[in-house]
Amino acid sequence: MATTPIFNASCSFPSTRGIDCKSYVGLRSNVSKVSIASSRIASGQRRNLVIRASESGNGHAKKLGMSDAECEAAVAAGNVPEAPPVPPKPAAPAGTPIIQPLNLNRRPRRNRASPVTRAAFQETDISPANFVYPLFIHEGEEDTPIGAMPGCYRLGWRHGLVQEVAKARAVGVNSIVLFPKVPEALKNPTGDEAYNDNGLVPRTIRLLKDKYPDLVIYTDVALDPYSSDGHDGIVREDGVIMNDETVHQLCKQAVSQARAGADVVSPSDMMDGRVGAIRAALDAEGFQNVSIMSYTAKYASSFYGPFREALDSNPRFGDKKTYQMNPANYREALIEAREDEAEGADILLVKPGLPYLDIIRLLRDKSPLPIAAYQVSGEYSMIKAGGVLKMIDEEKVMMESLMCLRRAGADIILTYFALQAATCLCGEKR
Ligand code: PBG
Repeated sequence: MATTPIFNASCSFPSTRGIDCKSYVGLRSNVSKVSIASSRIASGQRRNLVIRASESGNGHAKKLGMSDAECEAAVAAGNVPEAPPVPPKPAAPAGTPIIQPLNLNRRPRRNRASPVTRAAFQETDISPANFVYPLFIHEGEEDTPIGAMPGCYRLGWRHGLVQEVAKARAVGVNSIVLFPKVPEALKNPTGDEAYNDNGLVPRTIRLLKDKYPDLVIYTDVALDPYSSDGHDGIVREDGVIMNDETVHQLCKQAVSQARAGADVVSPSDMMDGRVGAIRAALDAEGFQNVSIMSYTAKYASSFYGPFREALDSNPRFGDKKTYQMNPANYREALIEAREDEAEGADILLVKPGLPYLDIIRLLRDKSPLPIAAYQVSGEYSMIKAGGVLKMIDEEKVMMESLMCLRRAGADIILTYFALQAATCLCGEKR
């Protein structure tokens, strides 16, 4: 089955709005009724419904007692039927000052007065369809917890991963991105394992596509998990990250992933010119239909710390500041965006997410392309830690942070919360 009943009943429905998990429960049962009604129509009980429709539509109201004319005459004669009285004004606490009301034309609180009005005027919504679920994989059979990312595991590519994907699909998350933990013995300075057609990532893609043909698989294109130097590119002896030589390797990596069945390749390396080169390499191999999600504005951020622990991919020396962007820069994101657009990127990504909402909004306003936001490992872990320490309400802060990324202009969000948040949106507790 391509979609689960939950997905049909609720998650693909526009009712998955708002950030208040409780409201989804109510919405969901309404939605289920809608889909039950329409499935009855489909299964041949249509006549029944048609008869009911014409019964109420042929102009004869059901007789309850007096006719319309008698009712109107009674009211005109002053015999007005009773209705409940207007309730008394609610009392203010003793000591509340007695004042003249402010003379305001506009009181914005009117449109926030009840859950119904708030839902009616909500500007942004969020659904499991907006999520891409990043998953860590390794060669092992067991799932290994990642210390710095509570709730995340290096998943066994044959077992744990497949189960996790099944859980995500059950709540409407049908897009994932894979990050491999590569055995140390397979790493070298030129990251050649990155384009081994039988490496961990291509093997995993083939397994997942065999099981779930409609799963949308994003891949990470960069050398760091495969580099003995822990950098996204090839490192020269003087420490310079070599741009064009790295792009050559990235093209081979992207083609290898496409060959295995990847739907979207995502260069996260920040080399110059890699989007155009990867596009040309994919096209030359017949992968015209494979998309490119470019990490357009990827900042040299300390929020990636837990991720690097997860993959053991910390740079062995130096930092990534000669290729990732300076967190102090805003206009520079536009330079990257223009370049990626011109080179044929299908989706522009901003990373990290929440501290960079201004960049998301900038690209949203300046580009017609879909925008992705990456809520990175450090953002995830801070919310988890705050929740564990009972300093914040983890679930509410999770949903608010994701909604804010949407409000800033992100179409899709890469988030380690994808399963948890989608579960919440579908009105179910994990
Ligand atoms: C590396 C890559 C990184 C992340 C995704 N791809 C880390 C880095 O640039 O060092 C970070 C994701 C996260 O922190 O969740 N190509």
